[in-house]
Amino acid sequence: MKTRITFLFIFLLTFALNAQENIVVNTNTTQMVLKVDEDKNVKFEYFGKQLNALDDLFKANSNLDADAYPAFGIRPDRIMAIRVKHANDDRTLVLKYQSHDMVTVDDNVSLLTIHLKDEIYPFYVDLKYKAYKAEDVIEIWSEIHHTEKKSVTLYDYASACLPINARAPHITHFHGSWAGEFMMEETELDHGTFTIENTEGIRGSLGDNASFILSLNQASSEDDGEVIAGALAWSGNYKISFSRDRYAPTILKAGINNYASDYILEKGEKFTTPALALTYCVEGKGQASRNLHRYARNYKLIDGKMERKILLNSWEGVYLDFDEEKIVELIDDIANIGGELFVLDDGWFGNKYVRDKADRGLGDWEVSERKLPSGLKYLIDESEKRGIKFGIWLEPEMANVESELYEKHPEWVLQNTNRELVKGRGKTQVVLDLTNPEVQQFIFDTLNDLLVKNPRIDYIKWDANMEIANYGSTYLSKEKQSNLYIDYHLGLQQVLKRLRQKHPHTTMQACASGGGRVNYAYLPYFHEFWASDNTDALQRIYTQWGMSHVYPAITMASHVSASPNHQTGRIIPIKFRFDVAMTGRLGLEMQPKNMTDEEKNFSAEAIKTYKEIRPIVQFGDLYRLLSPFDNDHLSSLMYVDEQKQNAVYFAYYVEKMAREKLPPFKLKGLDPNKRYRITEINKFDDKTHFKGDGEIYTGEFLMETGIKIDFAKEYDSAVFQLNQM
Ligand code: GLA
Repeated sequence: MKTRITFLFIFLLTFALNAQENIVVNTNTTQMVLKVDEDKNVKFEYFGKQLNALDDLFKANSNLDADAYPAFGIRPDRIMAIRVKHANDDRTLVLKYQSHDMVTVDDNVSLLTIHLKDEIYPFYVDLKYKAYKAEDVIEIWSEIHHTEKKSVTLYDYASACLPINARAPHITHFHGSWAGEFMMEETELDHGTFTIENTEGIRGSLGDNASFILSLNQASSEDDGEVIAGALAWSGNYKISFSRDRYAPTILKAGINNYASDYILEKGEKFTTPALALTYCVEGKGQASRNLHRYARNYKLIDGKMERKILLNSWEGVYLDFDEEKIVELIDDIANIGGELFVLDDGWFGNKYVRDKADRGLGDWEVSERKLPSGLKYLIDESEKRGIKFGIWLEPEMANVESELYEKHPEWVLQNTNRELVKGRGKTQVVLDLTNPEVQQFIFDTLNDLLVKNPRIDYIKWDANMEIANYGSTYLSKEKQSNLYIDYHLGLQQVLKRLRQKHPHTTMQACASGGGRVNYAYLPYFHEFWASDNTDALQRIYTQWGMSHVYPAITMASHVSASPNHQTGRIIPIKFRFDVAMTGRLGLEMQPKNMTDEEKNFSAEAIKTYKEIRPIVQFGDLYRLLSPFDNDHLSSLMYVDEQKQNAVYFAYYVEKMAREKLPPFKLKGLDPNKRYRITEINKFDDKTHFKGDGEIYTGEFLMETGIKIDFAKEYDSAVFQLNQM
């Protein structure tokens, strides 16, 4: 009898502790705290700098007073993370704590799961918090499932819904459009809700990017101030909102966009919301970006530690107008100036409908016998003969109605069977229905066959140039049509996963009319993004600056193109064009034949130089110095390696004003106590921009005093290498 009483006592004690326990997620410098209250509600307590005084937090209760995952129906809350309709049509949900567990994935990574269940229904939500200690990043997402008698409808299904105490919240987001991606904008949040979202269906980042920087107490700065930066890993429609209330914390809510997407979830099926990666720091947005970059390279990006090759992409050089001879010339030209890869863009396929124009052939992925009679093998041989690799473009999710594929499988395209098809590019483009497993198989087979038949293909440019216009699937049941936007992307993920299992090493680029698919969801499958179809070096300074806030340089494909530029007509010297492209993954996108000998020689030298600085650019820490968005006519940035031994510094004069006196250029990220030799590289005509070129300086001098750069005219630029002595 005695033992039984003791046992009961211990059990209750444990339960009581559980019910009031702090649940803590730590990174090296930050902390997230949740708590289970006496009614088994899970409350969100704190996100910020690591606290020594956790006990105090527990005693005092935070002033956030918010559920960790507010559910619609009974418990009042301003913003709901989840709203559902149960199998019996009841629309209320009350999620209660059941248990939690913490798994140590490795020395650096841990995963917390909090298990919630509805009070009465067999409806479950697991809240997930995955911490990457050294990178100071925490991923948040949820997993939803049920065992109710029939399907349940999900109307709202956030990845995260976070209360944030912010005195004067300012939000930076990255809006844009085709050929003008990642334009940065910062606004103080008004009272009410500010939303960034996409509803286009395919190109989730054509428009605003699914990422942000929230500065808590003032307009953000590069070097100080509390900020939270976030990136949502979802390839489809997304929605991120910030709701500000005078008397309550700001609520950050992020996840898949529920726009036209009531999701029907069957008994036993699991709905996993995409991870929202968050980093908090007190050192401004520069550090926030560096945290995200390291997290991306160390954990998300495929082959994040592998150098990317320097390539020539054929698009702006020849567009669709080429034959075998022209392509071999391009291969020859890029090999001669030291490139490492040639990529054959659009135009190589189709026999009944030869891809001479952008209105035909998509879906018919066989080599055009007319344009390339000797086939791909010949082109690969020609590349390899010259010591370079070969890559190729596809737009696998699309078809033209002028294609053999569409003639054979009209049911495979997204459509409303009562209405005429709306068509995209060339007035003939349509989107394949990736909810359909047969279509998924077709896309897998297309890529797989190509790579099996041509195992020496080193690189795939995967494009996607249309939105979801014809809302409807012949595969999904009548009841599940509203799963379309989401199931399309789950289908795409399936294909990508299978391809990666089979072909783990083929380099892939995600392109979607330029930067339409720049998103963390693609990082496990794609090595890089085509940041924009706009290759104008001046505009690229802006686009790349914006993109650098969230995505590391190694993912940023950046190509030197012709002058006058094909998108803007701007005339810019070759050095400036290279100096801009060299801050990302360098490539060329032009007809080398049209370059002067002087330009060709310069290009060959620049490529050689890039090979030397490539590890610092592709794996180093980014320090943004002078923002082009500040309208000071200048822009500069630098990359520093982890040991702070080597760095490379870039500066651009983007607009010349008469009699303008330029300020000294201060560097960052160096060790003040180390001594560095600073050497100008990538010079044109041996022209030096800095009197002290080649001398040795302390990090302190370079960062506190700065160097004087002599820029003579607009579109002048300079690159310096710094090496510890
Ligand atoms: C899209 C891409 C371009 C190019 C063309 C080819 O516009 O963004 O880079 O590949 O398609 O049609």
